[in-house]
Amino acid sequence: MSYQTLIVEIEDGVALIRLNRPEALNALNSQLLGELAEALKTLDADPAVRCFVLTGSDKAFAAGADIKEMADKSFTDMFLQDFFGTEGDAILRTRKPIIAAVAGYALGGGCELAMMCDFILCAENAKFGQPEINLGVVAGIGGTQRLTRFVGKSKSMEMHLTGRFMDAAEAERSGLVSRVLPLADLVPEALTTARKIAAKSAIATMVAKDCVNRAYETTLREGVLYERRVFHALFATEDQKEGMAAFTEKRPAKFTDK
Ligand code: HXC
Repeated sequence: MSYQTLIVEIEDGVALIRLNRPEALNALNSQLLGELAEALKTLDADPAVRCFVLTGSDKAFAAGADIKEMADKSFTDMFLQDFFGTEGDAILRTRKPIIAAVAGYALGGGCELAMMCDFILCAENAKFGQPEINLGVVAGIGGTQRLTRFVGKSKSMEMHLTGRFMDAAEAERSGLVSRVLPLADLVPEALTTARKIAAKSAIATMVAKDCVNRAYETTLREGVLYERRVFHALFATEDQKEGMAAFTEKRPAKFTDK
């Protein structure tokens, strides 16, 4: 698989996707998001891939949507193109887990992209922000909604209204990221975590992802009911039998995704 704005490596069931527009701090232009959507779709269907790690460079995960590409567009252009709607939907349709490994800037669309992943690990130098207000616009791929669900109204509102950045410690404290790591450990630890996920039943990990995401999209009652039904349904899988037999027999489970 060859892309101009991504570097993709697959090893041990994990696809490492690196955003690669260093000259623009990985600003998200149509080409990059188109390639990312395409790569995720292709690899989501590839049995050799069981988990994704999405990362950028040491300086920037992504510094936002490409301002130079957007600057001269009209409302009609944006509306008819449904700017980044298609690409955003494609990312969200990915069924296998995606870990965002964020170093440096994750701003605007970059912060939104990280939040569209299933969880975020970040480096000590990470900076998150929704600075669109400084450009006379607002977030456009879910930032006002997702950041508010992750960190609460007050902090999200302040960030969207002032454009200020949040550092790694604040991001961890407020629940935006699951862990902060030294920069040198970020991608290795993300890959180790992804390999752990890749070793589990792919059916169970996809179902777990689906259930947790439901917590953001439905009522508590409906979400709990959904979880109970899929929990029951997993008893139709061979992986459930294997996982529970392995526990009883005090041996590692060998999942077959059946
Ligand atoms: C296009 C960008 C860019 C961006 C950086 N660059 N961010 N190009 N779009 N979002 C380019 C710069 O123009 C510059 O290119 C090169 O990357 C290096 O950036 P510098 O500014 O020189 O680096 P530095 O001084 O270290 O500052 C880093 C920075 C700053 C703080 C991240 O670049 C910055 O504020 N960027 C914009 C952040 C932002 O506003 N993001 C939100 C975008 S709107 P040259 O050619 O000059 O060397 C958005 C909407 C999402 O994301 C919704 C979509 C539907």
